[in-house]
Amino acid sequence: MSGCPSFDKKHQLFTKNQAGEEDDSQEGINKAATGGILYGDYLQLDKVVKSQVLQSAQKGKKIHDEHLFIVTHQAYELWFKQILWELDSVRELFMNQGVRDERNMLKVVSRIHRITIILQLVADQFAILETMTAMDFYAFREYLTSASGFQSLQFRLLENKIGVASNLRVTYNCQHYRDNFSGEGSEALFRSEQEQTLLQLVEKWLERTPGLETDGFNFWAKLQANIDKGFNHERQRIENMPQANTKQALLEDLHKQIEVFTSLFDAKMHEYLISKGERRLSYKALQGALMIYFYREVPRFQVPFQMLTYLMEIDTLMTKWRYNHVCMVHRMIGSKAGTGGSSGYLYLRSTVSDRYKVFVDLFNLATYLIPRDWVPKLNPNIYKFPYIAECYDSSYSSCGSSSNSEDSD
Ligand code: HEM
Repeated sequence: MSGCPSFDKKHQLFTKNQAGEEDDSQEGINKAATGGILYGDYLQLDKVVKSQVLQSAQKGKKIHDEHLFIVTHQAYELWFKQILWELDSVRELFMNQGVRDERNMLKVVSRIHRITIILQLVADQFAILETMTAMDFYAFREYLTSASGFQSLQFRLLENKIGVASNLRVTYNCQHYRDNFSGEGSEALFRSEQEQTLLQLVEKWLERTPGLETDGFNFWAKLQANIDKGFNHERQRIENMPQANTKQALLEDLHKQIEVFTSLFDAKMHEYLISKGERRLSYKALQGALMIYFYREVPRFQVPFQMLTYLMEIDTLMTKWRYNHVCMVHRMIGSKAGTGGSSGYLYLRSTVSDRYKVFVDLFNLATYLIPRDWVPKLNPNIYKFPYIAECYDSSYSSCGSSSNSEDSD
């Protein structure tokens, strides 16, 4: 029941609804006056909303759309910051007891999923800036002088921490990207290149996939034996066919398929492809990934499979980001050079490439799809893959103990 009068004369407000009944929606206490922290202070809005300084206005010729240009970039940087926050926490979970304690997987996967949702948003966010015409941009572009998104430190940190390889990057006017940074920025970038990337941490985790042990389930040997057997049956089936023409074409096709799988089981070939940057995961990790791929319906592998899917999503969305950005840039500046000094559109177009794909091996897993009955059978009585913490390390107190991570919220 509201204690306030039905008409507040001071503020000229009706406090009853249209039917003249007391309005419960007005029940409550205005806490703003009770001395707690207030919205604007909590969010430090005095800094945030006063940080849009239009260079055009400073030069006495205010251009309306420069406000949108600044706000858009700032929004991007805030989202990059949030992605880095999640990424660092995931890397930390992996680096500490994280990968040893499977119970952390849900937290890791939820945060990686969150990263993908943010990336989706930032890939789509260019549409807002595209409401600006090239002429409107031209009107204030000169005021940017040498400022360019290329100098975004957070974007580079993000790429490095995910695992974009320094030696696979497109050079920038024949120079290393880091040469465009100095001081603390350059140091932070150098550190991020030395630290363990998400890719490397995932690699270690995949190498431990239960079932790969040669003295246990020995997935890899079983898979190879089954595939050899499967192809032999297939060859016999084709050879027994009466039609000579079809037979030849089918045998050629089969031969190509066999070659693909021969390279999969060739550890030396794997190393060669790694040296060319065409594969990024270790041979053992690739085996783990394929195992998760094949047994994704087994409860033990469902969350890991989800994780592999989200990791591919990160690559896909980063590629979409690059693509949407370059399309917008083409529309805004045509083939003019960038304010940061690159060839502009041509440089950016060359970065929309698989060289920047970190989890490229996961995409390629689909190359090795085989008939379901070629996948080695799991005997549930023998191969019980544990769900909970596996103690590999005596320093990690006990299997049943709750997580001792700082991040055990
Ligand atoms: C009118 C809008 C934009 C134009 C015309 C534009 C133009 C360019 C150009 C030409 C480059 C190449 C470097 C150079 O020579 O300057 C570049 C790089 C870059 N821009 Fe933009 N940009 C725009 C908006 C944005 C926005 C909203 C972001 C968000 C943060 C952004 C982030 C970046 C990043 C991270 C790079 C480096 C990409 C790489 O080297 O892989 N740009 N931009």
